[in-house]
Amino acid sequence: MHLDVVVLALVGSLKVQLPAQGADFEQVFLRWIHFGAGITWAGLLYFFNLVNGPFQKELDAATRGKVVPLLMPRALWWFRWSAVVTVLAGFRYYMILAKTDADNAGDPGLLGRWLGAWFLVWTLAWLAVYLLLKFAKGPLANGWVLALAVTLVVAGASWGVLELVADPAAGNRTLAISVGGGMGYFMMLNVWGVIWRCQKRLIAWTKANAEQGTPMPAESAELARLAFLASRANFWVSFPMLFFMAAAAHFPFLSGQ
Ligand code: HEM
Repeated sequence: MHLDVVVLALVGSLKVQLPAQGADFEQVFLRWIHFGAGITWAGLLYFFNLVNGPFQKELDAATRGKVVPLLMPRALWWFRWSAVVTVLAGFRYYMILAKTDADNAGDPGLLGRWLGAWFLVWTLAWLAVYLLLKFAKGPLANGWVLALAVTLVVAGASWGVLELVADPAAGNRTLAISVGGGMGYFMMLNVWGVIWRCQKRLIAWTKANAEQGTPMPAESAELARLAFLASRANFWVSFPMLFFMAAAAHFPFLSGQ
């Protein structure tokens, strides 16, 4: 028997029936990348919050000087780039969902309005939280007060984006990602705009301190606190974010009516 006949017979015996539409291939590819990168990102976020934070507190200065420059640049490289890949793949997918809804409504212009509102609301929410975490002083800088303030901003942004995207044409998937995807984008702004910016300086100072005995600058405590607060905010926001991800295709509970 010829080899090609054998190969065809083997392939034919597999229980595979590929979808006919090219768009299905793009979408499954996007989902796959999105999950892979999302798991990497959220996994490292949980490692930082649940394991590494408490672990670092136990170390003496000399050991920290050895561990931090070896561990943190690697962990933060995967952390910040997996955040970018997650958001890019997720955003492309969100565009497909929103475009389908806008086209079904016979008003393609809705797409630009929805995406514009999404960017605006979530960028402003991030800016508000950044200013709060950076400049809150006295009793306002208390962790519980900040947690309440961040909750109010994120809840307000969720409500605001739903108000702006609300339209009879917008389905559950588009609406759920307008909220959950927005939270993911907000988290990415924290990764690049706060955590990484603070951590790269802290790592360099810790290294110099361990190798040359250069004292840690006075502002290091403030930067460490800011990075911690942004990371902790991301940790908590990740739970509602994942709920909206899960609900988008499996739990229709939002309506644009
Ligand atoms: C750490 C961040 C993120 C994680 C871990 C994550 C995870 C997930 C998971 C697990 C799903 C699959 C849900 C399912 O099929 O049951 C999903 C779907 C999706 N995500 Fe994300 N996501 C994140 C951020 C984002 C962002 C920032 C966006 C948009 C800008 C986004 C857009 C989407 C879209 C459009 C879907 C498909 C929803 C549907 O099929 O209706 N995600 N995400």
